[in-house]
Amino acid sequence: MFSINPITDEDLKSDFSCGVEPLDRFFFDHALPNHQRHFGNTFVLRQDEGAPKVVGYYTLTMATVERDAALPRVLRQNAPKLHGAALLGRLAVDKRAQGQMRGKRMLLDAFEKCLHASELLGCSGIFTEAKDESASQFYKKHGFKPLDGATSWPLPMFIHIKTVAQLVRAVPK
Ligand SMILES: CC(C)(COP(=O)(O)OP(=O)(O)OC[C@H]1O[C@@H](n2cnc3c(N)ncnc32)[C@H](O)[C@@H]1OP(=O)(O)O)[C@@H](O)C(=O)NCCC(=O)NCCS
Repeated sequence: MFSINPITDEDLKSDFSCGVEPLDRFFFDHALPNHQRHFGNTFVLRQDEGAPKVVGYYTLTMATVERDAALPRVLRQNAPKLHGAALLGRLAVDKRAQGQMRGKRMLLDAFEKCLHASELLGCSGIFTEAKDESASQFYKKHGFKPLDGATSWPLPMFIHIKTVAQLVRAVPK
């Protein structure tokens, strides 16, 4: 059985490793204190049986985005120059579990949470930064677009909340 829940002490006893050292280090050194102090929430995908116990994690917090960089042209008119969005700070799957749709599962979970948040506070979409070409391809596949004019790494990317809503609605319940 798989579940996605907020990070706990127990998760730090795991042997999670996604193969990207800064993402592993963040998980073990910073994710829990950041979560407890409300700087950024970490959600952990766990499995009851088998290895790895911690299959993956992602983090969510808030960000400010620039209208002209983030929004598609058709939505820019009368939009505030700077406005609120969600920030998908990190997303990582254990090496042993990659390629088994676990990343997609967590991304859709993050989409659902952001959609819910957008009903409570202003949130025009989700911002993220892809660390390399491979990560940017993963995000592009799931609806993110590079910000206008962005060319260097990490690549800033954005998905509008309406696209998020469509993708969430398309998931069979
Ligand atoms: C990138 C990462 C999160 C993807 O997770 P994953 O569990 O391996 O990917 P999934 O199995 O959920 O893939 C879902 C879909 O995305 C596609 N996909 C996965 N990785 C991809 C990539 N690098 N480029 C393009 N498509 C990719 C899959 O083919 C699959 O497509 P489908 O729905 O048509 O079958 C994972 O490989 C990882 O943790 N990598 C190391 C850390 C990292 O790069 N994090 C990115 C944040 S900067």
